[in-house]
Amino acid sequence: MNEPQIRVQGVSKEFDREGSPLRVLRDVHLEIGAGEMVAIVGQSGAGKSTLLHIMGTLDVPSTGRILYNGTDVTALSGNALAQFRNRHIGFVFQFHHLLPDFDALENVMMPGLIRGEPRGPLRDRARALLAEMGLEKRARHRPSELSGGEQQRVALARALVMRPDVILADEPTGNLDSATSERMNDLFFHVNQTHGTTFVVVTHSRELADRMPRVVRMRDGQIESDPGRPASPPAEVSEETLA
Ligand SMILES: Nc1ncnc2c1ncn2[C@@H]1O[C@H](COP(=O)(O)OP(=O)(O)OP(=O)(O)O)[C@@H](O)[C@H]1O
Ligand SMILES: [Mg+2]
Repeated sequence: MNEPQIRVQGVSKEFDREGSPLRVLRDVHLEIGAGEMVAIVGQSGAGKSTLLHIMGTLDVPSTGRILYNGTDVTALSGNALAQFRNRHIGFVFQFHHLLPDFDALENVMMPGLIRGEPRGPLRDRARALLAEMGLEKRARHRPSELSGGEQQRVALARALVMRPDVILADEPTGNLDSATSERMNDLFFHVNQTHGTTFVVVTHSRELADRMPRVVRMRDGQIESDPGRPASPPAEVSEETLA
């Protein structure tokens, strides 16, 4: 099979706890193709968030590597790392970390503003994404003037504004009621189908896991089960290199 979009290669992670190392990930191997929808499930403490953070270059493995389209991103640092992350990966976490002093539109624009992108086209893109999330009438609301589900949709729009190849989400509906969660999950599938974005979602939600074509189960820092990549790519696969 061709090189996967994301390759987790022999990743282990240890945290130093006053002399005795705590092994949180043990020799994890995982391959994810462009356009896949993957859920990562497993009991609390299994290492799901740690793995997702390492996949997102927010944390470094103790051993092993993460490759995006064959390029080792664990070797990147400083500006190159920040740039790679900003361009290619969008994050959605349980607590969305919207900036309270900025409205929804400005929050969505923020990753582009940080990169110094021209405001006009960035604003247009942010508006279009808010509309896609069903929030066109909330663009000028600050986070405190939005419901939890609306805030989470703003966070998804923000994660998408740089047109990432991959969205990494950690319990993105963890604090939402079931109807609102379902709406958010629908948006993941909509974005996957319309933009071809790969989704890797850590979740405790049975409803979401049941809908995902591939469910990776973790236990004690290891992959317990993984059906693997589908035989044929689920979406249009672009052969562009990421890095
Ligand atoms: N910075 C850290 N220092 C020490 N131990 C840590 C650190 N971060 C995580 N751990 C430990 O690593 C283990 C895995 O944590 P992780 O957050 O990846 O679990 P998880 O599968 O996401 O669990 P949950 O479903 O509860 O979110 C836990 O036992 C946790 O206590
Ligand atoms: Mg977690």
